[in-house]
Amino acid sequence: MTFPNSRPRRLRRTPALRALFAETSLNPGDLIAPIFVHGGSDVQPVAGMPGVSRLDFDSAAGFAEQAAEVGLGGILLFGVTSEKDAVGSSAKAAGGVVQTALQRIRAEVGNQLVLMADTCLCAYTDHGHCGVLTDSGEVDNDATLPLLAATAVSQARAGADIVAPSDMMDGRVAAIRAGLDAAGLPETAIMSYAVKHASAFYGPFRDAADSSPSQGDRRGYQMDPANSQEAIREAALDIGEGADALIVKPALPSLDLIHRVSSELGMPVSGYAVSGEYAMIEAAAANGQLDRRAAVLESLTAIRRAGAGTVITYHALEAARWLQDQ
Ligand code: PBG
Repeated sequence: MTFPNSRPRRLRRTPALRALFAETSLNPGDLIAPIFVHGGSDVQPVAGMPGVSRLDFDSAAGFAEQAAEVGLGGILLFGVTSEKDAVGSSAKAAGGVVQTALQRIRAEVGNQLVLMADTCLCAYTDHGHCGVLTDSGEVDNDATLPLLAATAVSQARAGADIVAPSDMMDGRVAAIRAGLDAAGLPETAIMSYAVKHASAFYGPFRDAADSSPSQGDRRGYQMDPANSQEAIREAALDIGEGADALIVKPALPSLDLIHRVSSELGMPVSGYAVSGEYAMIEAAAANGQLDRRAAVLESLTAIRRAGAGTVITYHALEAARWLQDQ
């Protein structure tokens, strides 16, 4: 059928028609809020991410309470600490910053929210890499695996429903699964950062988490943004190793991969709108160049439309409030 019989505008005529025929929904329960927790006793604004702060334990519990009230799907915890050493020991400490925050938050919100912990070493190593280093300064993949597994186990013991390894070491999902099972934690799920490009869009995060590599960059372990076949291989490997759900990031630069991973591999996929994506919208909106609310909701909807069931976004709490008001 062609014009004049076919008039797609008929279904766009009113808000009610548009709502009835919308193919993609965006609900508070689809959103996951990343939060930065530090061991101090104040709230520290993150310079590159206006509106985002490093939270002390009380503020983190308060944030979680608000997230539960507004019906968010979950929160994803990142630790920030000055306790760093060559092997990132504080990542796996039972009294570590993420472990303590998990216990506080669980006491506050019970099971209303899914609690996730980012599993990586970069915020805990004094060199800022996601794994331990060999004598020649290379990231030692296999020596890193037991440390990641121990970190995941301690996060699970502290109450994480899901651990989310973001380090990009080969074999980490299998190592973490084996570690959790051996520790009597077979119910803890793994949501792996399966497709994670070495991206310029993580810049503001590294300020927030104090996790920039002091030497070199992460291209030796994170993926080349030029690659999509490799993205499918990476995701398939994680599934084979026991991942329960997958993360693709950054989100807007990787909509094609969110689509391919979700449609070809049939796993729950989360798109992570990373710190640089957040900062872009905030900067343009502050300059009067973008309608902030419209830009945020359109971006999150696009990530869902590409195939992500859930979206990890620093705008989660605010977006959920907007969605409730609509
Ligand atoms: C830790 C980690 C990073 C992000 C999530 N987990 C930083 C990095 O890999 O350098 C980035 C998240 C963001 O930019 O919002 N490895």
